[in-house]
Amino acid sequence: MAYNLLKGKRGIIFGALDNKSIAWKVAELAHEEGAIFTLSNTATALRFGEINELAEKCNATVITADATSVEDLTNVFTKSIEILGGKVDFVLHSIGMSLNVRKHRVYNDLNYEYLNKTLDISAVSFHKMLQVANKMDAINEWGSVVGLSYVAAQRTLYGYNDMADAKALLESIARSFGYIYGREKKIRVNTISQSPTRTTAGSGVKGIDGLMDFTERMSPLGNATSEECAMYCITLFSDLTRKVTMQNLFHDGGFSSMGMSLKAMNMYNKSFNCDCEEVSEEPISD
Ligand SMILES: NC(=O)c1ccc[n+]([C@@H]2O[C@H](COP(=O)([O-])OP(=O)(O)OC[C@H]3O[C@@H](n4cnc5c(N)ncnc54)[C@H](O)[C@@H]3O)[C@@H](O)[C@H]2O)c1
Repeated sequence: MAYNLLKGKRGIIFGALDNKSIAWKVAELAHEEGAIFTLSNTATALRFGEINELAEKCNATVITADATSVEDLTNVFTKSIEILGGKVDFVLHSIGMSLNVRKHRVYNDLNYEYLNKTLDISAVSFHKMLQVANKMDAINEWGSVVGLSYVAAQRTLYGYNDMADAKALLESIARSFGYIYGREKKIRVNTISQSPTRTTAGSGVKGIDGLMDFTERMSPLGNATSEECAMYCITLFSDLTRKVTMQNLFHDGGFSSMGMSLKAMNMYNKSFNCDCEEVSEEPISD
């Protein structure tokens, strides 16, 4: 059911690759909620992904850009304002990539050129986007910018590698730029820290199946899906959240506040065949 939460709003959505992408779900829902927007991704993503199908469905123009290039980003904002007929109200940064992860370099044997790329693509590009938009005055007052993060920014999770450092930087940029953008132009900047999700980027995370099973068992509400993440993004783009800024907002079914759950404890006990009694899910208060 649509609520017209984004009626009359213009936006830019970065990072839709295929129909599993979080940005893809955000675009579909933003369209349903009445927004008009442009889509952006790299030339490679355009070649191998399915973004044109999404563009057709949402009546959106695709603008090619490498998010690490200030020139490309300037072009995305300039063209978007032209195409959409005015300044934008929301921007989604749904971008992440680590060459160290791709090339199986572990955290204590990083290739530093790859690390620079990881940080540039996955975090500094967020700063570049904000700086370009601010200098161009491309976002309307009470506009909203959202980046996607992961709990590895706060807690160490096996195998997340240098992306953990990128997410910590991404969240810090949201706070630092959020202060300036809020003070000067009443624009919100937040990150959403999403549950592990089976997307192209997500599948690159070491042991994603076990991780998703673990977080599902640990989270009282279960893992958040990409569709649910899209719903949360829409609320942050809407006028219902005008005073939310500089936050890292966990969207993870409660995982980030847990230490051990009953479901995870039962699974753990089973794993080493201990004769510990299986605790029931039923009446239990601790
Ligand atoms: N999938 C998960 O488990 C999960 C969990 C938490 C956060 N996130 C974050 O969500 C965001 C979206 O990822 P996703 O899971 O939808 O996967 P995805 O693979 O569908 O999206 C990643 C996108 O980044 C784009 N990208 C890579 N390099 C780029 C560059 N130089 N310039 C512009 N775009 C570039 C890719 O083309 C792709 O569209 C990422 O920031 C990711 O870290 C994902």
